[in-house]
Amino acid sequence: MEIVLDVLLFVAAVLLIMGLRQLSNPDTASKGNSLAAFALFLGIVVSLVYPLETASNNYLYISVGIAVGAAIGLLSAKKVAMTAMPEMVSLFNGFGGLSAGLISLVWLINNKAAGQATEMGIVLLNLFLGLVAFIGSLVAYGKLSGKLKDGHLRIPFSTLVNLVLLLAAIAAIVVFSYNGMLTHVQLTVFAVVALLYGITFVAPIGGADMPVVISLLNSLTGITAAISGILTDNKLMLLGGVLVGSSGIILTLLMCKAMNRPLLSVIFGSFSSSKGEGLEVNGNIKEISCADLAIQLAYSDRVCIIPGYGMAVAQAQKVVKEVEVILEERGVEFKYAIHPVAGRMPGHMNVLLAEADVSYDKLLDLDDANSYLETTDVAIVVGANDVVNPSALEDPNSKIYGMPILDLAKTKNVVVLKRSMNPGYAGIQNPLFFKDNNKMLFGDAKKTLQLILSELKAA
Ligand code: TAP
Repeated sequence: MEIVLDVLLFVAAVLLIMGLRQLSNPDTASKGNSLAAFALFLGIVVSLVYPLETASNNYLYISVGIAVGAAIGLLSAKKVAMTAMPEMVSLFNGFGGLSAGLISLVWLINNKAAGQATEMGIVLLNLFLGLVAFIGSLVAYGKLSGKLKDGHLRIPFSTLVNLVLLLAAIAAIVVFSYNGMLTHVQLTVFAVVALLYGITFVAPIGGADMPVVISLLNSLTGITAAISGILTDNKLMLLGGVLVGSSGIILTLLMCKAMNRPLLSVIFGSFSSSKGEGLEVNGNIKEISCADLAIQLAYSDRVCIIPGYGMAVAQAQKVVKEVEVILEERGVEFKYAIHPVAGRMPGHMNVLLAEADVSYDKLLDLDDANSYLETTDVAIVVGANDVVNPSALEDPNSKIYGMPILDLAKTKNVVVLKRSMNPGYAGIQNPLFFKDNNKMLFGDAKKTLQLILSELKAA
C-alpha cells in the first residue's frame, strides 16, 4: 500500500510541475491551471490516506476543515471582481503562511521534549516565517485594497524597531533550540514578536514599492511550506514549497531590479518612508477629443500602448486589441510597452492582454520599450500613471525617485486616458500631464477607446 501511495505522490509531483510549466504560456495556461489543481487534489487524497492508522481518528475534523475551506475559497473566488484579484491573492498567500506556522505550532506542542537542536531551530524558524508571511500578507491586503493608507500604522523609528524585533527572534530561535523546549508563555511571546515583526516589516513600505514586498512574502510562504513538507514528511508539500519559494525569490530580485531598490533595505523595512513629498507640480494641461486622436492614429507610422492599472479597472483590453487590428490593417505598426510593476500584481498587464489575444511578440519590456518610444508617433497611456511619472528621473525628493519608468520625453505625441487628474497608487502628482508633448483624454478608458474605434471604423 505504501508503495502505491508513494508512486501516486510522485505522479502528483510530476503533474504539478507540468501544470506550472504550462502556466508560462497564455495558450496553455488554463489547461496548466487545471492540471496543477488536479495534482494538488491527488496530493491531498494521498496525504489523507498516507499515515494510515494514525490519522483515522481525525478524518471527521479534516473533512469539516476541507468542506469549510473549500466553500469559503469557492465563494470568494466566484464573487471577487477581477480588479480585486491582487488583494485576494495576497490574502490567500497569508493563509498559506498561517497554515505552515500552525503545523510548526502543533509540532512544538506535541514534541515538547524532542531535544534535537537543529530540528527545534527549524520548527521555530518555520513558525516565525509562517507568522510573518501571514500578518505581512494581511497588511499587504489592506494596502492593496485601499483599506490601509500609507499614513495608517505609522510606527515611530520603524527601521530600528524592525531590526530589534528581528534580532530578538533570531536570538530566541538559537536559545530555545539548545534548551530543547518552550513554555506556553515563551511560545506566546515568540509568536507575538513574529507577528509584530511582520507588521513593522510591511507597514512602512508603501506606494510604488509594494511589488517587491508582495513577491518577498510569496517566497516566504513557499519556504515555510517547504519546511512544513519536511516536518510532516510530505514530499509534494516540500516540492510545491520549494517551487513557490524559489520562484518567489527570483521574482523578488526581478522586482528589486524593476524598482531599482536594494533587497536588504526591503528586509529591514527601510525604504520609501524616508523620502520627501516631492515637488509641487503646476502648469496647464491640453486636452484632445476622441475624433482628433483617431485621425492622429490613422496617420501615424508607429503607435504604442502603455497599459496600467486603469486598463484593468476599465476592462479595456479587448477594445485596445480591436484598435490594434484596425490600425494594423491600415499599415500602422502597433506595440505595447509593459512596465514590470504596472497594475497590482506581477504580470498583471501580460495576463490582461493575453486574455484579449494580443500576441506576445508585440509586448516590449522596459528597455526595448524605452528605445521604441523614442521613435513612436503616438503613445497612448491607458490608465497608467506611476509607471510613466518622470519625477522618478527628475525629482530627487520624490517617493519614486530612482524607479525605472517608461520614459515618454522623446515620444512625439503622448495621450493619457484617465478619468481625472487624480494620482496613481503612489499618491503623487505626475508632471507628464503638463509636458508639451502630452494631451489628456478624460473618461473611462473603455468608453473613450470605444469612441476612438467607432471614429476609426467610420473614417
Ligand atoms: P497607477 O499608478 O495606480 O495609476 C492607475 C491610473 O489609472 C490612475 O491614475 C487612475 O486615474 C487611472 N484609472 C483608474 N480607473 C480608470 C478607468 N476606468 N479608466 C481610465 N483610467 C482609470 O497604475 P500604474 O501606472 O499601472 O502603476 C502601478 C502602481 O501600483 C505602481 O506604483 C506600483 O508600484 C504599484 N503596485 C504594483 C504592484 C504590482 S506587483 N504590479 C503591486 C502593488 C502596487 P483616474 O482615477 O483619474 O482615472
